[in-house]
Amino acid sequence: MQTINVDLPQRGYTIHIARGQLDQLGKTTREVALHDRAMLVMDAKVAEPYGVVAKRALEDAGYTIVTHQLTALESRKTLSTVEGIYEAMLEAKLDRMSPVIALGGGVVGDIAGFAAATYLRGVPVIQAPTTLLAMVDASVGGKTGVNFPLPMDAAGRSELGKNLIGAFWQPRAVIIDPQVLTTLDMRDYRCGLAEIVKHGLIADASLLDFLAQHASAIGALDLDVLEDLIARSVRIKAAIVEEDEREAGRRALLNLGHTFAHAIEPIEALDLRHGEAVSIGMCAAAHCAVQTSRMTTDEADRLRDLLQALGLPTHLPREVDASSLIDTMGYDKKVASGKLRLILPRSLGAADIVSDIDRSILQSAWAAVGAGQTNEGC
Ligand SMILES: NC(=O)c1ccc[n+]([C@@H]2O[C@H](COP(=O)([O-])OP(=O)(O)OC[C@H]3O[C@@H](n4cnc5c(N)ncnc54)[C@H](O)[C@@H]3O)[C@@H](O)[C@H]2O)c1
Repeated sequence: MQTINVDLPQRGYTIHIARGQLDQLGKTTREVALHDRAMLVMDAKVAEPYGVVAKRALEDAGYTIVTHQLTALESRKTLSTVEGIYEAMLEAKLDRMSPVIALGGGVVGDIAGFAAATYLRGVPVIQAPTTLLAMVDASVGGKTGVNFPLPMDAAGRSELGKNLIGAFWQPRAVIIDPQVLTTLDMRDYRCGLAEIVKHGLIADASLLDFLAQHASAIGALDLDVLEDLIARSVRIKAAIVEEDEREAGRRALLNLGHTFAHAIEPIEALDLRHGEAVSIGMCAAAHCAVQTSRMTTDEADRLRDLLQALGLPTHLPREVDASSLIDTMGYDKKVASGKLRLILPRSLGAADIVSDIDRSILQSAWAAVGAGQTNEGC
């Protein structure tokens, strides 16, 4: 078992990583939350078998458990879903000491975390992530929240704005059992790998070496290798959170690749999941870094080769106009107000926030990942 402490004043906690750790959920919850009545909020898709194991482990540790199932969809990550949890909490007479245990991917973790942050002004939450992305990213650091409709456009349409309503609410513990990844859809699994590459790219070149050396074991879900990989990645996230809990500075580096990703993720014809869009976004960011002499071509090529070895896309699946992507990034508007900020790698294993990127460099970065006319990779 690997344990990682997140040292925060008054809000520190331990992340436990081991195969079979779900069986220890009750024992670990007992160490941080004494009250007997608890709520298990879980992704309906993992109710069998993991929900059953989690409930039994909690009951064996003496808890009376109320369960609440959610459908893990972005469209359901809303305040009305949170209201449903509040109602169940009130009905079960949960009080301010009653812990909430979130079992699921990032969608469930964010929703249940937000319900815990706000019910009776805050009850303890234990995160038990079941996707790779939630293990290495969403469950650590205390960001919770839901989506909320944006103001209507001229045609009377409104989209859901991502994570607009939320709270920083650190968990009391995080329990990671890599065994549960064996049932995860491979595309979702690889999306988690993209976030791990991002952690290596911004903070630890040796993690990129580890990924490259073990790419085939990782592809085959070798659980021993995965346990190490998750621990290495979580350590990076934990260190960044310790340094900058509320994203006033360094934590923003975790958005590397995301400004590009957000421009392509909503395009239905591309059919990209978040981690896939981030993978292409990291390549575009690496190209910007090469153009601005922050990174060598050889380093950008190594990044691209690694992403490909992990089964991630490095190129748009079909051509999209680069200018329209730059417009979606809000380039002109944001540059005028002095706010377009990109996170760019500096070599492999370091990154910075950069705010003076020319439109022509963005154009060339998008072209390098397949937008516009050029097709030359990242
Ligand atoms: N709080 C944060 O810091 C943070 C960071 C990154 C992402 N997020 C949020 O996380 C969400 C994305 O999380 P995600 O990628 O985990 O998606 P998700 O929660 O939607 O899970 C992906 C899919 O996997 C299924 N699933 C979950 N665990 C499974 C398992 N063990 N076996 C089989 N299927 C399983 C889910 O039902 C779902 O269909 C987004 O809403 C994003 O905003 C939050």
